[in-house]
Amino acid sequence: MRLIMNDSGNDNYLLTPGPLTTSLATKQAMLRDWGSRDTDFIAITRRIQDRLLNIARVADSHVAVPVQGSGTFGVEATLGTLIAPGQRTLVLENGAYGKRIVTILERIGHQVSVLRWPEDQQVDPTALDAALREDAAIEHVVVVHCETTTGILNDMVAIGRVTKAHKRRLIIDGMSAFGAIPIDGDSVPFDALIASSNKCFEGVPGIAFALIARQWLELAEGNAHSLALDLYEQWRGLEANGQWRFTPPTHVLAAFDQALAEHREEGGVAARHRRYGGNRDILVQGMRELGFETLLADSVQAPIIVTFLMPADSRFEFTRFYDDLSARGFVIYPGKLALADSFRIGCIGALGALEMRAALAAVKATLEAMGIDDLASKATNQTSSLNRTGT
Ligand SMILES: Cc1ncc(COP(=O)(O)O)c(C=O)c1O
Repeated sequence: MRLIMNDSGNDNYLLTPGPLTTSLATKQAMLRDWGSRDTDFIAITRRIQDRLLNIARVADSHVAVPVQGSGTFGVEATLGTLIAPGQRTLVLENGAYGKRIVTILERIGHQVSVLRWPEDQQVDPTALDAALREDAAIEHVVVVHCETTTGILNDMVAIGRVTKAHKRRLIIDGMSAFGAIPIDGDSVPFDALIASSNKCFEGVPGIAFALIARQWLELAEGNAHSLALDLYEQWRGLEANGQWRFTPPTHVLAAFDQALAEHREEGGVAARHRRYGGNRDILVQGMRELGFETLLADSVQAPIIVTFLMPADSRFEFTRFYDDLSARGFVIYPGKLALADSFRIGCIGALGALEMRAALAAVKATLEAMGIDDLASKATNQTSSLNRTGT
């Protein structure tokens, strides 16, 4: 049975951290061909830039620079552009996306220091304080706001306070948080915040962007290791005539514009945070009632994606679970943990309480189809062919 409940027009709901379920109007915004030099199209890019800056309350101090590609393109472009050759960067790592940041910096040839925590633990600001006190050569700090590997939330206010007390630059990978987890330039004095169109803003994939302190970007000419991922040149190009240097993802931008309008109509970050929080609570409670265990303590669980431990029950086969849920209209996400075998279910996208309850009903029906009515919930080492794949 397929369940179609909201106006997404989907036959499948994506309970994944992006691409995710988008509204029908966002999809329909892509039904027009735009000339990349049209005044109307240039206005779309400008409107998106302005909205993003306003959402983060940094319109006076920062600029918004979009770049073609997925989120990783935005991360690599930002790090490559802002960090000058020879400068040292400290990465606070508690998951796969922090690790990817380290890989990017090493690949570019930058000097990297790493503070590492287990995937189920938050970054500790006191360790950051000690590291910055000890090593004067560190000029920049990079951290992931919500580590999508597990769904753990890092404390940006504390990290921002410590970083600024030591007068270092702060770069935040806010990919899976910006738009739904409150963050703004007043409470977190960030120098760069990176995110993409297809997570909490509920656009389609294809654009990443960074909100960058103007004064820092102005100093970044000639830093970038890459022509296409040079955000300084991208910014100068857009400033000059509103046009993208290279072919813009026109349809993706039109959809992002619509998605941002819906974000505002819904009530902005606060409203989206409320809806996703409601989704998470329904999901966690319902899954626990069915016998599943969450990886994270509730106190650090972001309303973005929830990691469930693979049940010990020998009747539970993840591949079959995934396929059956998919056939019932709900796509979930394999785990990405080094720590334990797991799977993830997202709370973000054009979804609400109705869809989350329907997803739980589908999970229950799937368990019953597997002959399980009393799931033995203890964690297991069971591995699946689907696990540890994906983005
Ligand atoms: C926190 C974070 N950073 C970076 C990325 C990479 O984005 P993409 O897969 O779009 O390249 C993701 C993707 O989920 C993410 O969640």
